Amino acid sequence: MDELNRRQYLDAMGIQQWVLRDSPQEVSEMTPPEVITATVKTAPADATSLINVGWHDLAAAVKGCQACELHKTRRQAVFGVGDPQADLLVIGEAPGADEDRQGEPFVGPAGQLLNAMLLAIGLRREQIFIANILKCRPPGNRDPHVNEMASCEPFLQRQIELIQPKLILSVGRISAQSLLKCDTAVGRLRGQIHHYGEQNIPLIVTYHPAYLLRSPEQKGKSWQDLQMALRTLRGEEN
Ligand code: URA
Repeated sequence: MDELNRRQYLDAMGIQQWVLRDSPQEVSEMTPPEVITATVKTAPADATSLINVGWHDLAAAVKGCQACELHKTRRQAVFGVGDPQADLLVIGEAPGADEDRQGEPFVGPAGQLLNAMLLAIGLRREQIFIANILKCRPPGNRDPHVNEMASCEPFLQRQIELIQPKLILSVGRISAQSLLKCDTAVGRLRGQIHHYGEQNIPLIVTYHPAYLLRSPEQKGKSWQDLQMALRTLRGEEN
């Protein structure tokens, strides 16, 4: 990406000044984008049944899942998109109306901003993997219920086991609190490196792009978080 493009993406984020320290292309090998579309009728979302399940069977299990009420109102489950061997895994909350329609996470206005944020650190959507805490849209975009997150959790856990990312970027309150098992506000969770699960995967929290669209004055903090993410991916000191 040339300097002009970078500046345009940063402008889209509302960020005026920044310095790129190094070429980000080393962060991940480029691989073609993948949208998983397999479908099956039944799939219990319990952790034991997912042990040893491979990527495509996992995608099929998500697509056919009827473990909670959300399957009755969804158009389709949204497994995730990107490179299943990515260094960076972005985890949002749940599909919205656009995602439910298109079967891909972060394709609406928040997704456009997420793309711009990632491009600002030199990463295209295809180079990372993007998933959500919930695979199905909660009606009216209400907050996920505890039982829905519990039902869906084994899917994300297995995705993380298979992807083995170097870093998880958790966007927004629901994602951060669900992954870190806490009820701390995003403003207090961001700006530091947490660790996820037994694999101890570095995890950085930042604001949800939908929140940034409503509160653009917070974009500077998200930019700091993204720079921390890039340093972590490069194995640099934070
Ligand atoms: N918001 C999310 O958290 N995830 C999506 O996929 C879309 C919007």
